[in-house]
Amino acid sequence: MTYNLLKGKKGIIFGALNDMSIAWKVAERAVEEGAEIVLTNTPLAIRMGDMDKLAEKTNAKVIPADATSVEDLENLIKESMAHFGGQVDFILHSIGMSLNVRKNRPYDDLNYDYMMKSMDISAISFHKLLQTARKLDAISEWGSVVALSYIAAQRTFFGYNEMAEAKAMLESIARSFGYIYGRDKKIRINTISQSPTLTTAGQGIKGMSDLIDFSERMSPLGNASADDCADYCLVMFSDLTRKVTMQNLFHDGGFSQVGMSWRAMNVYSMSLEDMKNNMDKIID
Ligand SMILES: NC(=O)c1ccc[n+]([C@@H]2O[C@H](COP(=O)([O-])OP(=O)(O)OC[C@H]3O[C@@H](n4cnc5c(N)ncnc54)[C@H](O)[C@@H]3O)[C@@H](O)[C@H]2O)c1
Repeated sequence: MTYNLLKGKKGIIFGALNDMSIAWKVAERAVEEGAEIVLTNTPLAIRMGDMDKLAEKTNAKVIPADATSVEDLENLIKESMAHFGGQVDFILHSIGMSLNVRKNRPYDDLNYDYMMKSMDISAISFHKLLQTARKLDAISEWGSVVALSYIAAQRTFFGYNEMAEAKAMLESIARSFGYIYGRDKKIRINTISQSPTLTTAGQGIKGMSDLIDFSERMSPLGNASADDCADYCLVMFSDLTRKVTMQNLFHDGGFSQVGMSWRAMNVYSMSLEDMKNNMDKIID
């Protein structure tokens, strides 16, 4: 169902790699809701991924940018403003990458050069984007910027590794910049803390499929899908949320508020039973 929530709005969407990407779903839904969009990703991701298909489907202009490069961001924003003939109304930062996770380095044996790069890509790029947009006065009054986060910013999720620090910094940047941008230009900046979702970035997390099952059992509403996340992003880009800023918004079927659920406990006790049986066998 469409509601024309973004009629006449213009936006930049970072991070659509393939049709599993959360940004891909946001792009499709934003256009369905009446927005015009620019799609961006690294030159490599554009070459290796399927963004051209998405651009065709959504009638979007593609402008490559490495989000860690201020020069690329300046070019992206200037070109987007020229394309739209003025400011943009919304931006999605849907970027995450951990070099240590990729290289299988555990949290107590991190490579610090990798770690700096992971922070740059996954968190500092958000600051670079906001600072560049502000200097170029690129976002319209009451505009909205959303970045995607995960609950490992607040609580320990073992396999999430250094991305926990990246997400904590990302959420902090949303608050710190949200104050400045809100005060000066009435621009909203929020993070959405999404359920674990099977995407290319998601698959890199240790034990991802078990984590998805665990979260599903823990969440009274079940995990939020990428499509659900797209819907939430649109609401945050719309005029219906004009006074929401500097927030980390959990979008997780209730997971963040649950300590224990019977659905998860049942699996745990079944495994205990199983283990006991197997141990008996071993003892026998
Ligand atoms: N999948 C999950 O379980 C989950 C849960 C919560 C939050 N998130 C967050 O959602 C966001 C999107 O991830 P996704 O799950 O859709 O995976 P994805 O792999 O589809 O998207 C990640 C994107 O980041 C882009 N990227 C990497 N380095 C970049 C750079 N230097 N400049 C610009 N773009 C760059 C990649 O090309 C890719 O398009 C990330 O911030 C991720 O941490 C994901």
